[in-house]
Amino acid sequence: MSSETIDQIAQLEADARRQVDAAADLEALRGCESAVIGKRSALAELNAGLGALPAAERRQVGQAIGEARSRIRSRVEARAEQLRALEAAQRVEAERLDLSEVWQVPAPGGIPDRGHLHLVTTTRDALEDVFVSMGFAVAEGPEAETDFYNFEALNMPPDHPARGMWDTLYLRLGAPETVLLRTHTSPVQIHLMQTQAPPIYAVMPGRCYRRDTPDARHLAVFHQIEGLVVDRGITFGDLAGTIEAFTASFFGPGMHSRLRPSFFPFTEPSAEFEVTCPICSGAGCRTCSGSGWLELGGCGMVDPNVFVAAGIDPEEHTGFAFGFGIDRLAQVRQGLEDMRILLDNDLRFLSQF
Ligand code: DAH
Repeated sequence: MSSETIDQIAQLEADARRQVDAAADLEALRGCESAVIGKRSALAELNAGLGALPAAERRQVGQAIGEARSRIRSRVEARAEQLRALEAAQRVEAERLDLSEVWQVPAPGGIPDRGHLHLVTTTRDALEDVFVSMGFAVAEGPEAETDFYNFEALNMPPDHPARGMWDTLYLRLGAPETVLLRTHTSPVQIHLMQTQAPPIYAVMPGRCYRRDTPDARHLAVFHQIEGLVVDRGITFGDLAGTIEAFTASFFGPGMHSRLRPSFFPFTEPSAEFEVTCPICSGAGCRTCSGSGWLELGGCGMVDPNVFVAAGIDPEEHTGFAFGFGIDRLAQVRQGLEDMRILLDNDLRFLSQF
């Protein structure tokens, strides 16, 4: 009788082991565990019947049941461990990002596409080329600026209302509102004048940041190019001539510029400059609201206060400055409806340029 029961227990254990090993996932394993060693399992039933056995046999069978149960439990643990590892690996595989798309799509002829510079970068390069050919140097400045460079040295003391022209992103560095992401490239003018004695003929391209909600004509992160000329006897006529020469050289023959009165704290007098609309060549279209002209940027004669802040004697030197958006320029030149497409990283768009 006892040896029969012992065989039965061995049989149940072998069955249980097979079931545990076959459990396909953690949930199935949990169900299987309760079926083989739970309260209603065949082993539990055998255990419940122990009382009817003679004392010596009861001990022997009871011990065999206990041992079989604990071996099955270890088997369940081991299988659970395996299944957890398997499920983790499957999750990683399912969440894997395939970044190799470009390389898997062969170009005609079977050669993978190599990619190229972004439209904004090629526009900046083209602008630099034109200014370099006109005798300008190219300079750069930091994107994180102090209040002094972005505002104060540009003739905007604290609380000056003109600061409201730029929605500023301040950084949590130092005292509140002392360090910021530059809202324009104009602060590079100050760095340049502090480190270099006139004559200065330079353009300064770079990334700028504003607390703007992006829309069809604005980005919160965008690019500008700044120009600065400081020398003896520089006049407003030099400014107008430089803008006109740039326009013809960059946009092509037949393209012109014009200046209209405006205000910027760092220039006096200040102007907005417009160029012949590159979409309709001046005939009038939707982009230029029928006027034939497109506003490109701001400019003016460097304010004497800016010279003083940068350590240059305004009695000795005069100069002019200008600045405009590179992304905006790329937008009008390519006739892009919405500027945000520049940041989408959509290859169907990017590969056209
Ligand atoms: N910094 C101006 C802006 O963000 C653009 C600008 C206007 C730059 C006039 C200049 C300037 O150098 O003289 O909007």
